[in-house]
Amino acid sequence: MAWFFSVITQTSNDILIGNCSLRDFSKNLKTPFYLYDMTGLDALLSELKIHLRDNPKHRICYAVKANSEPEICKRMIQSGLGFDVVSGNELKHVTQLGAAPNQIYFSGVGKTEVEIDLAISQTIGGLHIESLAELELIKQRAKTLNKPTQVGVRWNPDVDVKTHPHLRTGDANDKFGLETPQVMESLSIIQDCPELTFSGLHVHIGSQILDLNVFESFYKKAKAFMGDLLTKGFKPAYLNVGGGVGIYYDNNINESPALFKKYLELITTLFKDESYTLITEPGRSLIGIYGALISRVLYIKTTPKKNFLISDASMTELLRPALYGARHPIWMIQQSQTPTDKTFEITSPICESGDTFSEDFTCSFEPTQGDLIAILGAGAYGASMASQYNLRDLPKAYFN
Ligand SMILES: Cc1ncc(COP(=O)(O)O)c(C=O)c1O
Repeated sequence: MAWFFSVITQTSNDILIGNCSLRDFSKNLKTPFYLYDMTGLDALLSELKIHLRDNPKHRICYAVKANSEPEICKRMIQSGLGFDVVSGNELKHVTQLGAAPNQIYFSGVGKTEVEIDLAISQTIGGLHIESLAELELIKQRAKTLNKPTQVGVRWNPDVDVKTHPHLRTGDANDKFGLETPQVMESLSIIQDCPELTFSGLHVHIGSQILDLNVFESFYKKAKAFMGDLLTKGFKPAYLNVGGGVGIYYDNNINESPALFKKYLELITTLFKDESYTLITEPGRSLIGIYGALISRVLYIKTTPKKNFLISDASMTELLRPALYGARHPIWMIQQSQTPTDKTFEITSPICESGDTFSEDFTCSFEPTQGDLIAILGAGAYGASMASQYNLRDLPKAYFN
């Protein structure tokens, strides 16, 4: 099966995001703003629809935290996807947009009583516990509300993954999930409580993982643990292996769907003979490459030590670079034809020295005020992390 997607290309005087000319599109728009390539997203989602038709025991639940734009969440619903949520507001958001509650799974180490009550009253697919204390509260609330509740258990598999430490979630030092003996303890508590049913086992090892071998060994470990649980007589309806496959944050960005396809093939092969439903919760790999943050050059500032390119975008629109040193591919549409071999630090108006998009940006021609800058691969964990620090406006979003 070939996968066709609109891609991002650079011409001598333009950047094409799918079929959209950034030069024309941006002409009268105030920057910075997010531009989403919905044609590209739709192409990916129609491939996923085929995949889900051919693999009815695989359920894909979009991780809303990656990007909660209603336009995007609605597309996921129309394509038959469920949702991974991590707050009561995310749960409300997707149900208001039309998501079926039984296709929603709720994780997070600090769910409040109000959030737990909401999940119980909505009868969601799985309320995933992350501590025994949380299970105790869920038990009490299910009794008080007198509602049958599907409880999933998040397991911490203690695996080492190669990603940024802040994106790792499945190591024994991380706050997420329960270690194996506590999983077993929680299962007997669930069994003894008439309102609760063990819906499934949940595991998520981290985000922006590019090495499929890491997934393969983790999936084998999760599959073996599910096998143990089934042998012991537990009846989990699903194994939820989380999200986490990365995208290429470099000039290979257009190759990201091919990696996602390989990840799906791996899952299909490994779990094809299992009796239970397999759930995955991708976020970044579904929307990451289809969003770009578009900004303009405000000023060029030269000091004895450095050249600064001051963009009008900042950490308030895209926090990833300041938060964990993330680097995105940055392409420019330049007005000048004067060649340059200078290197620039691309920074922002914000009063934070750590707010840098690139320390060593090079471009063919002298950058000038007003040049358009496209920060690519910003569809995931971009707009959803935006803030109004320095009382800046939240960025607008356009869907093309
Ligand atoms: C529980 C859970 N599931 C899924 C995801 C989505 O991960 P990704 O966007 O890397 O696919 C996350 C994000 O960290 C998560 O915490």
